[in-house]
Amino acid sequence: MKNYKLLTPGPLTTTENVKKEMLFDHCTWDDDYKAITLKIREELLELGHVNNEDYTVVLMQGSGTFGVESVLTSVIGDDEKVLIVTNGAYGERQVDIAKHAKIPYTTYSEPYNKIPDAKKVAEILKKDPSITHVSMIHSETTSGLLNDIEAVGKVVKESGRTFIVDAMSSFGGVDIPVKEWGIDFIVSSANKCIQGVPGFSFIIANKAKLIASEGKARSLSLDLYDQWKTMDKDGKWRFTSPTHVVLAFAKALEEMKEEGGIPARSKRYYDNNHLLIERMKEMGIDTYIKDHQGPIITTFFYPEHHTFSFTDMYQYIKERGYAIYPGKLTDADTFRIGNIGEIYEEDIEKVCAIIKEFLEVNKSE
Ligand SMILES: Cc1ncc(COP(=O)(O)O)c(C=O)c1O
Repeated sequence: MKNYKLLTPGPLTTTENVKKEMLFDHCTWDDDYKAITLKIREELLELGHVNNEDYTVVLMQGSGTFGVESVLTSVIGDDEKVLIVTNGAYGERQVDIAKHAKIPYTTYSEPYNKIPDAKKVAEILKKDPSITHVSMIHSETTSGLLNDIEAVGKVVKESGRTFIVDAMSSFGGVDIPVKEWGIDFIVSSANKCIQGVPGFSFIIANKAKLIASEGKARSLSLDLYDQWKTMDKDGKWRFTSPTHVVLAFAKALEEMKEEGGIPARSKRYYDNNHLLIERMKEMGIDTYIKDHQGPIITTFFYPEHHTFSFTDMYQYIKERGYAIYPGKLTDADTFRIGNIGEIYEEDIEKVCAIIKEFLEVNKSE
């Protein structure tokens, strides 16, 4: 099989050195290994601009959804209620999690191309004092929209509620001062902007609120408090830890530092994204999001009167070295291109040239 780079929102293209770290089969109870876990947790705190006086980090086996599900099912009690703010499939997934776990919830939904309004959140919180938590997505990967969690965080804090943020596809790629923005629990995963491989998610948590959640969890394996209690002792994971993934992640963090931390990585992603949108526009391909487009992934409409299918285009591009993503909208025919991972402007130029060639070959009359 021919190799290709991923222009998807994760798993994403990682470096050779990150992949090479996984060639070692590490012992889980070994002190060196536990020290790696502790170091990762410390570095994630730094990336979130918080420290271990009032924040802590929990690593959780599984994909990103496991991390989100862990928080929602562990920190909201049966006598509490969460306001889930949605404008895409990942917000809707939180509603699904709440339904499955029978967590009391209510929703505030906006269309997929519109950001939620902090004022509306404030009104809802004022009207319904039974709401104790607010949960929302930062980068809605469904569309590529970047929600204003800073503004929502402010009103959530002012009203004394707990704020949960799914920053799966943005943490590390967009700077998020966790405490300053009023966030109590923020979730992301190993295979997104830190540029590791899939296998665990991580949660930066307000320590006092995490401790207060003891005993609320509805699941054993996803019990956030229990996971933290064990991990916080000496870095040993509660159940089998994804050792290879952890080693790769530690390397990815090191490489992130070498690149210049979040500011440099964020700039590279924003530059990739701006170039992508500009080149696509030159080909007459328009973005679905008009305001608040994020730097992670972009949803594009197909050119007018096209006759090809997504599979035709995907195959053509894949044979030439890149994998793109189908659209995830229910009301419009679209495709998506991600620009995170070990991706540079030359990759964007290349993929756009391939798309241009594809459109010329498939010109509709
Ligand atoms: C914003 C957001 N939330 C949650 C998820 C779910 O993560 P996973 O597919 O790793 O379970 C994703 C995946 O891309 C995402 O982008």
